[in-house]
Amino acid sequence: MPFEERVFSGMQPTGSLHLGNYLGAMLQWIELQKTHQCIYCVVDMHAITVWQEPAELRQAIRKVTAAYMAAGLDPKTSILFNQSQVAAHAELAWVFNCIARLGWLNRMTQFKEKAGKDRENASVGLFAYPNLMAADILVYKATHVPVGDDQKQHLELARDIAGKFNNDYNTEIRARGFDDGEFFPLPEPVITGPATRVMSLRDGTKKMSKSDPSDLSRINLTDDADTIAKKVRKAKTDPEPLPSEAAGLQGRPEAENLIGIFAALSGSSKDTVLAEYGGRQFSEFKANLAELSVAKLGPLGAEINRLTSDPAEIDKILADGAARAAAIAAPIMGDVKDIVGFIRS
Ligand code: AMP
Ligand code: TRP
Repeated sequence: MPFEERVFSGMQPTGSLHLGNYLGAMLQWIELQKTHQCIYCVVDMHAITVWQEPAELRQAIRKVTAAYMAAGLDPKTSILFNQSQVAAHAELAWVFNCIARLGWLNRMTQFKEKAGKDRENASVGLFAYPNLMAADILVYKATHVPVGDDQKQHLELARDIAGKFNNDYNTEIRARGFDDGEFFPLPEPVITGPATRVMSLRDGTKKMSKSDPSDLSRINLTDDADTIAKKVRKAKTDPEPLPSEAAGLQGRPEAENLIGIFAALSGSSKDTVLAEYGGRQFSEFKANLAELSVAKLGPLGAEINRLTSDPAEIDKILADGAARAAAIAAPIMGDVKDIVGFIRS
């Protein structure tokens, strides 16, 4: 039986969303809600795999929810909620802790990066994080998962977990009428945003990231117009004028990044941008990029601020989303319990 197409994705409540999140993830999610049933989740349980101040976490959940709505996510068309309100995520994650192998998780590069040298002191949750991510997706039998390319490895793990579950429990799965033995779909990554990798404004070889110590390296979605313009003006470049076509950006990571940002924000391509700016100096291009960035991001920041000023309204939206999500997850989680041999009333 083919699986009905369903989109799931999760975002960490960190509070400081930047241009990379916007172009790499948010725009794509919003596009997908035109064609698919979408479930979007603020992953607060993932957030506490590293220490979070409770008061800050609370604010960050609301802020990230507001940011997605400000960017165009419609909580009526799609489902928007925070993870901890739907207990099935944690329930399925436990089952997956017992499906995934230590060896699989040991290969996860993000754990190595996040745990750093002091591995012994990392939380067990940080290590098991990809199992929870697999549960997020599969508790809805989601088939398509929009993510940035840094999440590809975790998604492969989710496919491995789905496959091993289907295989280990094959007899029980077939006995319950899933004739092809496929209980879980193998979810596919969707990595097609206008800019899947936005780079730091200070170093074109590093990803734009909320954890970069230099605030000049990123444009935050709630930066004011002057700050945005300053960051664009100070962005690192090279001494050459701009090339006339995208091939000429080879080996010029800073130029490539700025042209990519311009193309994504203006809804065009790098070649189109270069057809206009080829041969011209960065100073001229940067002035226009600053103007474009302020025009696109200014209203977004204002809308985020407006929405976060009414936390009760955001909490209501999250509660409504959680109820709708739980209704989809409940029968799937019930089947899982039967399949693994639990008794339920
Ligand atoms: P994070 O900020 O790491 O929690 O990521 C949230 C989402 O934004 C994920 O889908 C990331 O892959 C995406 N993302 C984060 N940083 C960037 C970036 N610099 N360029 C493109 N996508 C990004
Ligand atoms: N790990 C993802 C990130 O850091 C967030 C996430 C959690 C997620 N669960 C998910 C993404 C399920 C897609 C699907 O960006």
